[in-house]
Amino acid sequence: MTNWGRICAERLNALARVSEPGPGVTRLPFTPEHAAVLDLLRGWMAEAGLTHHLDDAGTLVGRHVGDGRKGTFYIGSHQDSVREGGAFDGIMGIVLAIAALQKLKDEGASPDCPVEVLAFADEEGVRWPTALVGSRAVAGTVDPAVLDMTDRDGVTLRAAMEEFGLAPERIGKIARDPATALGYLECHIEQGPVLEQADVPLGVVTAICGIERHVVTLTGETGHAGTLPMATRRDALVGAAALVAEVDRLAQETEGLRATVGELHVAPNVVNAVPRDVRLTVELRAPDDAMREEASRHLQDFAHRVTGNRGVDCDMQRSYRQPAQPCEPLLTNALARAVGISTGRTALRLPSGATHDASAMADLCPISMMFVRCRNGVSHTPDEHVSREDLEHAVEALSTFLAQMT
Ligand code: GLV
Ligand code: MN
Ligand code: MN
Repeated sequence: MTNWGRICAERLNALARVSEPGPGVTRLPFTPEHAAVLDLLRGWMAEAGLTHHLDDAGTLVGRHVGDGRKGTFYIGSHQDSVREGGAFDGIMGIVLAIAALQKLKDEGASPDCPVEVLAFADEEGVRWPTALVGSRAVAGTVDPAVLDMTDRDGVTLRAAMEEFGLAPERIGKIARDPATALGYLECHIEQGPVLEQADVPLGVVTAICGIERHVVTLTGETGHAGTLPMATRRDALVGAAALVAEVDRLAQETEGLRATVGELHVAPNVVNAVPRDVRLTVELRAPDDAMREEASRHLQDFAHRVTGNRGVDCDMQRSYRQPAQPCEPLLTNALARAVGISTGRTALRLPSGATHDASAMADLCPISMMFVRCRNGVSHTPDEHVSREDLEHAVEALSTFLAQMT
């Protein structure tokens, strides 16, 4: 019998080697690393009997043609990682989807309906201050203005896509017809400890949290650290520090809210000069959109007040927003049955605090998500790990779910 857990683990190892140098996996969109993983994925898609093409948002689409009813079922995830991330967040869902379709082909049990595996380019949003570009393009909700955003080297998303051989001006043409989109499934590591604590390999997601991101620019005045009197300083970093502390306080005191300052850039960033410029990011997440929006208003008011008191100018721009999304009950129940068959246990249901391409796909069609247990519940670090046994359970559950697609 084919050991799909072992095969998927080997494929994930090969993919993890495709990374920028440094700890863990760093694979950003529209880079040589992205191109190299697409070559590996194309080979496995072909083995699974899928035709494939790259769309103009950089999504590799592997298609099982099917011969039954009209419409297409989508199953996907993302190829990109955070900087110094792990080998599973994102790309595992693509590997498992291809393996599940190959297993069904080998068993002569391929789904009747067309199924497309979508390997999205950019879900993490670490290179440009936006995210979910590929899934939004498929859903028909991508805002072409994001093409003008720049990365930390000043490269626009548009230029990076063109360099990658894509035609970003055609991004609006990728949108699928909601009338023929049967549904979307994403399989992902849990990125938390719930499944491990419950001692189960798989879980079914009930809803995905909402998220927004801001870029905050603080402008003060630099000067000599020894001679500039304290009372007349316009220190941008001191203003930033007050904001960072408030972001944390607010989330500590608001049940369900997560708030993070993940990036901080200081200029001139020298030991004996007062900081003149600070650029930082604020990211807010919550299962309840109203709670997140209230937190956003509070932090904008706070940022302007606290920096104004110090003579520092403050500009806070929202660069990204994705509302919370519930998973669709019928698909979720079908997935829970497949998980039950694979694991011999009633499927555990849990919400997702991470965002996913499924959030964007929800604008196209009903969505569902399956989580796979990860060791120590960790993610976005090189320590991410999923056992071969759990990969095997996941292939089994996905293939059981997909086999019902007639
Ligand atoms: C993606 O992993 C995110 O939730 O930021
Ligand atoms: Mn991630
Ligand atoms: Mn992910």
